[in-house]
Amino acid sequence: MNSGTNQIDTVRVELGARSYDIVIGRGLIDRAGAILSPVLATPRVIVVSDDQVGPLYSAPLVASMERAGIKTALVSVPAGEECKSFAGFERLVDALLASHPDRQMTIIALGGGVVGDLAGFAAASLLSGVDFIQVPTTLLAQVDSSVGGKTGINTRQGKNLVGAFHQPRMVLADIATLDSLPERHLRSGYAETVKYGLIDDAEFFAWLETHGADIIAGDPQARRYAIAASCRAKARIVADDEREAGSRALLNLGHTFGHALERAAGYGERLLHGEAVGIGLVLAFALSARLGFCSPDEPERIATHLRQLGLLSSPRDIPQGSPDAETLLGHMGFDKKVKGGRIRFVLARGIGRSFIAEDVPLDEARAVLESALGDSGRLARHKTA
Ligand SMILES: NC(=O)c1ccc[n+]([C@@H]2O[C@H](COP(=O)([O-])OP(=O)(O)OC[C@H]3O[C@@H](n4cnc5c(N)ncnc54)[C@H](O)[C@@H]3O)[C@@H](O)[C@H]2O)c1
Ligand SMILES: [Zn+2]
Repeated sequence: MNSGTNQIDTVRVELGARSYDIVIGRGLIDRAGAILSPVLATPRVIVVSDDQVGPLYSAPLVASMERAGIKTALVSVPAGEECKSFAGFERLVDALLASHPDRQMTIIALGGGVVGDLAGFAAASLLSGVDFIQVPTTLLAQVDSSVGGKTGINTRQGKNLVGAFHQPRMVLADIATLDSLPERHLRSGYAETVKYGLIDDAEFFAWLETHGADIIAGDPQARRYAIAASCRAKARIVADDEREAGSRALLNLGHTFGHALERAAGYGERLLHGEAVGIGLVLAFALSARLGFCSPDEPERIATHLRQLGLLSSPRDIPQGSPDAETLLGHMGFDKKVKGGRIRFVLARGIGRSFIAEDVPLDEARAVLESALGDSGRLARHKTA
């Protein structure tokens, strides 16, 4: 770990001809022109941002690009998940086409995961594909969504159902942007950082137990270290399985339960994505313990860490509660008709030892949910039985 607050960490995502660097440090937006120039096919970019991030960071980004002789246009989208829709996509593509793009120019996504996914998908499809660069400004985007090339939008049937794999040419994570991020979003993104420790890096999880509070409090070294460690973990997994034919599914640790809870809460302010993932991580370890893969102390250790950092650790913590176990299983796509009553799940043999299990009994997942929901989960089941 470097000392000094102006240090830069670079993480390489190894994908052959599509390899790229994730550059992590403070104040990078002011130096973006010089850092990004080498990966631009022509000195021309369109910056896509939202109406909350744009006013904060687009002026210094544009100024830095222009100082480097890069012609820069700006397109703004409304902040929030709603713009990751067909309608939002159409509006963005119209705005991009109005700037007379050519196939050599580059789109820069400046914002959180919403802007990254939407602008990335626009880049994947505009003129059959133009280059793009991610400048993530939320912790979630810096440790997760900006890396790995998944882009896309939501449809009325569900989240992220339409999209494309389109790797960025570079990711520029300026940790100074986290200073303006609302603390609840910071904590939510932190849950994804915890996920990487739990997937395959027990030492990193132990480090987070000691330094997590520093990350939330704004310590630049702790933030840079945690973001670099998370990106290294994601880069490793993505390099191994770019299109999720196998091991990339490990990144879904905590997400099967998490998505069900998010869906039940309506994908909004009631329960943020990372908050749902935090609870999902505890449940995935509870299921692993129930099946005898790990000690029951492990889910407890994770829950304690999440609670210490002000995150939720149980479905019972969700404001206005959670529906019963059967409804949640339905949200996961597992209903009573599941073949042989067995499901695919990311489990763990302990912290840092996750694996993909192909034949988890659905009844065990139900039991874990019922136990986590307490009386409410069981009563609701008896009512529907
Ligand atoms: N592509 C992937 O691999 C992947 C992975 C995980 C999540 N995602 C997607 O990411 C999205 C969630 O991303 P998110 O959590 O970053 O949410 P977000 O992009 O909606 O950002 C959260 C809010 O914070 C504001 N904001 C962003 N940066 C800010 C800053 N520095 N200062 C002040 N305000 C700021 C935004 O305007 C927004 O209102 C979801 O749509 C999810 O599906 C994608
Ligand atoms: Zn996630």
